[in-house]
Amino acid sequence: MTKDLTDMSWDDFDEMRDPRPATNEFDAVVERAISRRGFLGGALAFGSGAAVFGASMLTPLGARAAASGAFPFEPIAIGTDFDIHVPAGYSWSTLVRWGDALVSEAEGAYSPETGVPVAMADKVFGENTDGMELFEVDGREIIAVNSEYVNPKINLPAASEGVAQNADEVAMLKHMQGVTVMEVAKSANGYAVVVDSPYNRRIHHDTPMVMDGPAAGSALVQTNADPAGLSPVGTMNNCGSGKTLWGTYLTCEENFNGYFGATGAYDETDGIKRYGIGGEGRYAYEKFDPRFDLSAEPNEPNRHGWVTEIDPADPQSTPVKHSALGRFKHENAEMVQAADGRVVVYMGDDERGEFIYKYVSNGLYTEGGATEGLLSDGILYVAKFNDDMTGEWLALTPETTGMSLEEILVFARLAGSKVGATTMDRPEWISAHPARAEAYCALTNNSKRGGDSMPVNAANPRETNDYGQIVRWQPAGGDHGATGFTWDLYVMAGNPAVYDNVYGGSDNITDGNMFNSPDGMAFDSTGLLWIQTDGDDSNEGDFAGQGNNQMLVGNPDTGEIARFLTAPNGAEVTGLCWSADRKTAFVGIQHPGGAWPDGNGKPRSSVIAVWRDDGATIG
Ligand code: FEO
Ligand code: CA
Ligand code: CA
Repeated sequence: MTKDLTDMSWDDFDEMRDPRPATNEFDAVVERAISRRGFLGGALAFGSGAAVFGASMLTPLGARAAASGAFPFEPIAIGTDFDIHVPAGYSWSTLVRWGDALVSEAEGAYSPETGVPVAMADKVFGENTDGMELFEVDGREIIAVNSEYVNPKINLPAASEGVAQNADEVAMLKHMQGVTVMEVAKSANGYAVVVDSPYNRRIHHDTPMVMDGPAAGSALVQTNADPAGLSPVGTMNNCGSGKTLWGTYLTCEENFNGYFGATGAYDETDGIKRYGIGGEGRYAYEKFDPRFDLSAEPNEPNRHGWVTEIDPADPQSTPVKHSALGRFKHENAEMVQAADGRVVVYMGDDERGEFIYKYVSNGLYTEGGATEGLLSDGILYVAKFNDDMTGEWLALTPETTGMSLEEILVFARLAGSKVGATTMDRPEWISAHPARAEAYCALTNNSKRGGDSMPVNAANPRETNDYGQIVRWQPAGGDHGATGFTWDLYVMAGNPAVYDNVYGGSDNITDGNMFNSPDGMAFDSTGLLWIQTDGDDSNEGDFAGQGNNQMLVGNPDTGEIARFLTAPNGAEVTGLCWSADRKTAFVGIQHPGGAWPDGNGKPRSSVIAVWRDDGATIG
């Protein structure tokens, strides 16, 4: 393994493997429409290097203006340092960092020189914090939070180039990822983890699970270790999250492909290629654990890339991988309810040119009622965004795809291409408005948008899209269960200081609030949309004036957007949830660079608490 593999971003890793989606019929239709008549009444600019649609699908907001008045805080300036900044009248403190003890046995386990010993790796808070949700259980506050991946040079300080050299080091990496369930409590000193709480738990790459739904037990998920195909082990690359209506946690398996490698020959099927699996794994797992060796266990990757449900109230419960929700690089899982009571889960597949999905249960949910089958028996749909700003959810069935149901679920990407789903600019988090039937999806960026294999389309209108946009849709009849919808772009990120065309962004982007690469998103209880970024924080060139990654707040009605928090340089802002009394927001700071927050040259991913100094609610 080379040094570069462990350092590479997941997007660069995808680019190396380059599993480009097949050009589909919809792309061809849009391309024909452009050349024939322009788009949406002729506002189209179509020139060298930048095929773009006009501004008519953007939220009409009038002249550019600094956000003001719409938010209960004064927007802050960009950050370029290694610290965290919040508005005047707000404060923050660190809740927990990678390596902090969940049980008293692990107190002091972390050291900047040696990391965390293998025996303690699953008794401390996990690495690279990401999606999280807070649950109230018997009057206690329990946070379930993802640990997405690892930073081997920080995690394995003794290993050459940060590459695992033996089974113990691989185990160390496996056990510092996955999910942490932890009780938190507030004292005079603010929030802290309740060490030794009976709810504290780590779930990682070696934790026993079960699979349910139509693909469970199928030949596609059977392995030597589990010939029945019902008992997968481990959840990995846990990115975004979700919360069920019945109070359980949904953890979403994203870039699972990077953990698999081959020590010998393997069959390079369409499924293997489309999911970017093969070659050398990022972390040398395959060299020390045959489960991750494609040449020994070709079906093991099919057991990952699912939405997995965890009951935070029962530390003995076995996590369940829900095959009915489809297998892809899951970002998050946003659960809402259809008008008739069916459960609806919106999901993005974060890779260049992949799709947005929704699952609709066959059964109905009533508060306090049975939940059996609600995430194992339903229909998976994929989104088609038409260029007239309507859209439809296309059912993925044996009839529409020519694939078996098991194949549809395990290879959902292939099924989506067959029905003509719209290629998107890397769908990240989806969040539904709390008071009306409307959902928002962050399309973070797409360096490969444009050209013949992934032409622009109306919802993804910029070639070489380095800034990203947020698309939103309103289901027909105000019913999340409907198969039709209308859509528009809530914001197109950009840099108005550098560009005066669509790369300058939509009208609600100004010199004072600009950002790139929207990623995490969550609506608060007041109907404001919190937006977290994971982008280029060089503050140079196309990104000059945008500073470090940040968290902004958007008003969905006026379109106004204001900057609330800036992260340390090098960090991504990941995950957001609120305390039960809504007076504290918990925010994830993933892979900070430089000296924050320990000052020892080994900065650790952390969850911070943010509150208002006057004690008022914060969302
Ligand atoms: Fe793990 Fe797409 O972010
Ligand atoms: Ca993300
Ligand atoms: Ca991202």
